[in-house]
Amino acid sequence: MKIAVFNGSPRKENTSAMVQAFREGAKAAGHEVAEYQVGRMKIAGCMACEYCHTKGEGACVQKDDFEKILPAYKEADMIVFASPIYYFVMSAQMEAAIQRLYCIGKPLKAKKGALLLSSHSPGVYDAAIAQFKGFTAYVNMENAGVITAHGDENKSDSKMNEIRDFAKKL
Ligand SMILES: Cc1cc2nc3c(=O)[nH]c(=O)nc-3n(C[C@H](O)[C@H](O)[C@H](O)COP(=O)(O)O)c2cc1C
Repeated sequence: MKIAVFNGSPRKENTSAMVQAFREGAKAAGHEVAEYQVGRMKIAGCMACEYCHTKGEGACVQKDDFEKILPAYKEADMIVFASPIYYFVMSAQMEAAIQRLYCIGKPLKAKKGALLLSSHSPGVYDAAIAQFKGFTAYVNMENAGVITAHGDENKSDSKMNEIRDFAKKL
């Protein structure tokens, strides 16, 4: 499978460690993984101008870094959202990237999705997981799994092995 990983962290720390473990497992299983550093991109929120659904014919009127990731959203067989939790949701950069998908409605090929979440505290994932479940149901993607890591779990060998094993079995 062609797997696109959207990393919503602006830092190369906990979320990136999770992504790295995912990448190792997925590559070992023969998948092709491309990571997009959404957290470091400049992606504005959707303006609801409807240009994309009228004159734009699927193109967004806003010209920013969303253009760098839209082809991956369109072409991937699987999409992974990886993000730190910021105030009980994914990072603002990630939320903006997801909401800008409004221009194409749904990823065109992806049949599977997964969610990797990193946080300081446990028990802070309900909103992000609810959003992910709603999104996967809406775009007809199988929810392949959700993995969370908080505090000391972040970067721990046991958590990295859990993620590698998960990715190997996709
Ligand atoms: C703006 C901001 C908001 C945060 N909000 C939360 C939160 O609500 N709950 C929590 O457990 N951790 C919160 N954190 C901590 C991060 O989720 C945590 O450090 C995470 O592992 C960072 O991932 P990263 O190293 O990939 O950036 C917050 C951090 C920042 C910078």
